[in-house]
Amino acid sequence: MKIINIAIASILIVSISYAKNRGIHVVKEKEGQKYYLKECAKCHHSGKIGGNMATQEEWKELLENSAAKLIALHKGEENTTEVIRYLKSKRFEKEHNKLLKFLQEFANDSEDIPTCI
Ligand code: HEC
Repeated sequence: MKIINIAIASILIVSISYAKNRGIHVVKEKEGQKYYLKECAKCHHSGKIGGNMATQEEWKELLENSAAKLIALHKGEENTTEVIRYLKSKRFEKEHNKLLKFLQEFANDSEDIPTCI
């Protein structure tokens, strides 16, 4: 009986902290967030963790020249064929500006990192 109670309590604690971690960020760049969640989040987690990989200037450099640097960083890594295909696509060209704005919003030198609600 005790063991079952402990098990139930642990499940509760785990699900509560999970829900907290998944708290939705109040972001300004909603379109860019959508692209990030679709193309990057499965490997780099939420914007708060993923955006933190670079400064605002570095994000600009990573995405310029058709994302040449970002593509190079993913070459040879596991399961990155799809994201490389995205970065080389016409869709990325269209989404570039908004995705960049979103990443810069969460950059590690951003003074205005959105908070969780
Ligand atoms: C299939 C998984 C996957 C996807 C999808 C993915 N990445 Fe990555 N990314 C990696 C791996 C693996 C590395 C190399 C190891 C590392 O540095 O974490 C990496 C490295 C990076 C780095 C360099 C990090 C550093 O510390 O130097 C950046 C920046 C980055 N990714 C941004 C992005 C962005 C932006 C997207 C979406 C357009 C994206 N990634 C999509 C797996 C992925």
